[in-house]
Parts: sequence; C-alpha cells; structure tokens
Amino acid sequence: MKIVTCVAPVNIAVIKYWGKRDENLILPINDSISASLSTDIMCAKTTIMASPLLKENKFWLNGREQTFDSPRFSNCIKAIRARCDETLPQFNWKISICSENNFPTAAGLASSAAGYACLVHALAQLYEIKGEISDIARQGSGSACRSIYGGWVQWHKGDLPTGADSIATQIAPADHWPEMRIIVLVVNDCRKKYSSTSGMKTTTETSTLVKFRAESVVNQRAKAMKKAIEDKDYESFAEITMKDSNQMHAICLDTFPPCVYMNDTSHAIVNLVHSYNEYKKGQKVAYTFDAGPNACIYLLQSEVEQFISVVNHVFPKPADIDAVEYYRGLTLPNKQ
Ligand code: PMV
Repeated sequence: MKIVTCVAPVNIAVIKYWGKRDENLILPINDSISASLSTDIMCAKTTIMASPLLKENKFWLNGREQTFDSPRFSNCIKAIRARCDETLPQFNWKISICSENNFPTAAGLASSAAGYACLVHALAQLYEIKGEISDIARQGSGSACRSIYGGWVQWHKGDLPTGADSIATQIAPADHWPEMRIIVLVVNDCRKKYSSTSGMKTTTETSTLVKFRAESVVNQRAKAMKKAIEDKDYESFAEITMKDSNQMHAICLDTFPPCVYMNDTSHAIVNLVHSYNEYKKGQKVAYTFDAGPNACIYLLQSEVEQFISVVNHVFPKPADIDAVEYYRGLTLPNKQ
C-alpha cells in the first residue's frame, strides 16, 4: 500500500489568461502571470491511497463522491500514468483519491486551479514521477499549471501543437517581495452565470478585441509585469495589474453574447481604488477581477490598515460586501 498527501495554493493572476487556441489540450492564446497565496490560509489538499486490496478506483471531492469519467480529470490521470514506470507495483493498483479545499467556495476563488495542481502533484508523488508536471496540471484547468509553484509564476503559452512547452515557471520565490499582501473582497452575489470555460470559448469565437490583445498588447505587458515584479516596482505593478483586469473584462463585454462578471459593487470597488490612489497621489492599491464579481486587492503591508478602514467606511456591514477577508499571502515554499 502507498499513501501520499499534498497541498497546493490558490493563485491570482495579474496578467490574465483568457482565450484558448486548443480547447482539448487547454493551450492559451497568451502568457499569463500570477502570485500563489500562502497554503497556510487557502489551499487544496489531496490524499491518494493505492493498494492491491482496493477493488475499484474512487474519488471524493469535498466529501462528495465523483466519477472518474470527466474528460479533464481522466486526461490528467492518463497523462500522469503515461509517464509512470509500469514496473512499479502501484501502477497496477486501484486508487482512492480524497480532495478538499480549506476555503469557502463562496469566495469565488479559483478552486479548480488549486484542486488540479494538487491532484496532479499527488499523483506524481504516488507514481514517483520526476520533472515537469505543470503541463499535466494545465490539462485539468488552465490556470492550475501556475498553482504548481509558489511565489510569482508565469505560464508560457508555448508554440508547440502538443502543448509540451505550454508550462509554468517561477519568476521569483514568495519571499522575494515580502511586503506584498492580497486582500480578497467577497462581493455579495449569486453563482456566476458563465463558467470560465464557456466564457472563453465564446470570446475566442466572437471577440475582435481579444485578437488585438493577443497580437498587440499582452506580450509587451507580460514583459513589463515580469520586470516590475523583479524590480519590486509597486507603482508599475499596480498600473499593469489594473489595466490587464480591465482589458479582460472589456473583452468579456466584447464577447457575443457578452459575459458580464463584474457587478455594481465590483465597479464601486474600482472607483474606490482609483479615488484612494488619487488621494494618495500614486498607485498604492491595485484591484483585479477574475470570472466573478469578487475583487482581489494587491497592496503593500504599509497600506493595509488604512485601505481596510476605508473599505469598511464605504461598505459598512451588513451592506453590499459580505466579508472583507484579509489574506496575508505569498509565504510559500519555492516549489510545492
Ligand atoms: O483555469 P480556468 O479555466 O479556471 O481560467 C481562469 C481564468 C481567470 O481566472 C479568469 C484568469 C486567470 O488567468 O486566472
């Protein structure tokens, strides 16, 4: 019998992945960049047991039994097993997988990214696979490839049709920028109407703006973002983060029919951040939004107290914002 347990972090993109060039292999149309949050606060945890005594494969996610048949899940299992040494005894044993997230799904944070990164890493441990696995995590959920690493991470879109070069690499470890913090503002809202998968598919089919982004904007922006992170240049980092979030959501509106993820409260947060920065005479706080209305705020520790008090003043509870969660992220090991 063999048992492995792994944890993997949630990641929050500052250069967004939005649009695929290959739906099946999950190959993106552009590079993206994110930071992984501390696994102390938010993570996925997966335990896998392999045993000759097990009669069938089983998978539980947050306490509910799941099928092995979902295409993305089975693609990950197949891809991992293809790299396994078939003479290992566990290769022929049935497995039992138990996965859970230690954060509320209501936070609307990319649980699938942490979940697939964790699953793939745990399978790699089980089957004793060395080397790159972010290309396999990518086949579960695109952004999962970035959760394979801690700190600041770039997902390279790659050029090969096989996807072998569409992998994640670490730009800098978590302790590179120790003053950086992330606050998640959980906006009161029902479940999102369009999944990121269906939203991206419709965008790729209908948006003209997404082509402009891929051809003329995002490469330059990813380079500038990498430099801002390397130089710990917060002002540049903040400006690029906000512009890129805004462009992703402009593309969502340019999709037909449009995918509307941000709501009035999200826009009120955008206005609040810009007013705060105007008052402070510089970019001191940056917002970014994924496929939902919740805001992720990147800021330095020196701004946290003041910004939170402004948020609490503008959105007194109980009002539009359900909870102001304050995640002190970015204290990860270099590699999960
Ligand atoms: O990996 P997916 O399919 O859940 O896509 C996530 C895409 C965004 O969260 C909206 C942006 C990103 O780069 O994480």
